Amino acid sequence: MRERLFLSAPHMGGNELKYIEEVFKSNYIAPLGEYVNKFEESIRNYTGTPNALAVSSGTAAIHLALRILGVGEGDDILASTFTFIGSVNAILYQRANPVFIDSDTASWNLSPQLLEAYLKSCSKKPKALIVTHLYGMSADIEEIVRICKAHDIHLIEDAAESLGATFNGKHTGTFGDFGIYSFNGNKILTTSGGGMLVTADKAWRDKALFYATQAKEPYIHYEHEEYGYNYRMSNVLAAIGVGQMEVIEARVEKKRQIFDWYRKYLNDLEEITFMPELPNSRGNRWLTALTFEKTDYNKIMKALEEVNVESRPLWKPMHMQPLFKGCKSYLDGTSEALYKKGLCLASSTIMTEEDVKMVCETIKKEIAQ
Ligand SMILES: Cc1ncc(COP(=O)(O)O)c(C=O)c1O
Repeated sequence: MRERLFLSAPHMGGNELKYIEEVFKSNYIAPLGEYVNKFEESIRNYTGTPNALAVSSGTAAIHLALRILGVGEGDDILASTFTFIGSVNAILYQRANPVFIDSDTASWNLSPQLLEAYLKSCSKKPKALIVTHLYGMSADIEEIVRICKAHDIHLIEDAAESLGATFNGKHTGTFGDFGIYSFNGNKILTTSGGGMLVTADKAWRDKALFYATQAKEPYIHYEHEEYGYNYRMSNVLAAIGVGQMEVIEARVEKKRQIFDWYRKYLNDLEEITFMPELPNSRGNRWLTALTFEKTDYNKIMKALEEVNVESRPLWKPMHMQPLFKGCKSYLDGTSEALYKKGLCLASSTIMTEEDVKMVCETIKKEIAQ
């Protein structure tokens, strides 16, 4: 059978192995070394953020941000409900309470209207908001920044899926107090596992480095006044990251091309709606996501599986997860409705137009039955 078409398979740029060999030759296998600096530098140059810290995962980056903002037991932390669990687990690590805000149909991302309405009506002021740029598509981030500023709420952008996406030409991840990117196995770029914390504040970046490296006080001996974490990225993985960053724009272009092919071949199906792209934004279209108004997506997933093509339901909103039963949420039903109708389609950057056409024909055949 033809090779499996994955949602988003790793796609090396070509120089990664060479850089790994250089790491081995220098014997800087242990954490840190020049590739960690180079990887951070490439993220700074590409996104325009002044400070970046390479860490072991996107989840670790969010955790560091919450710790630095002083989030602790009993604090309320607002978050997009329509997201992946990695976005919000760190709220629990800090023993804080997530408060989930629903999406709007214009972006499928966090609704600024609901955010503002919640902040106007709540009796307890939340400490921060974690907003996700879902599937690589920018949230209405300028409006969200405005609301957070007006209500004095810290903003963490979960740009785990959206490296390369911009709003009014500015990179997602660089609007808030902190932004995070993920390089896990299926992201637009991968280091096999890893993350990046970005911030405009150098003191916060230094503090994050301190916490990410076991919170060692600046003495020759090992002195500790606070607890920390072992969250730094290794030089070997950063070498992969440097190679991957050389092809980021090509990957964004290809993801967008794949989306255009899907639109071209599925557009005549009246019952489908693709995830929208907000005006003035450029998504990275990490995964092509769409909803089916009439057809049960399980049927479509099964048909795709039969031709060895991966697909996946949209993220199940956090407020619907048993883990968060009893948590506060501010909802209007948008994310639940999307979740019940939606799928992510195979969007690997190695895919050809023929591959996409085949996926679309399989979907159409199933719908016609
Ligand atoms: C929206 C979102 N947030 C957070 C994460 C967590 O990133 P990581 O897997 O690098 O910890 C991911 C990806 O896994 C994600 O998709």
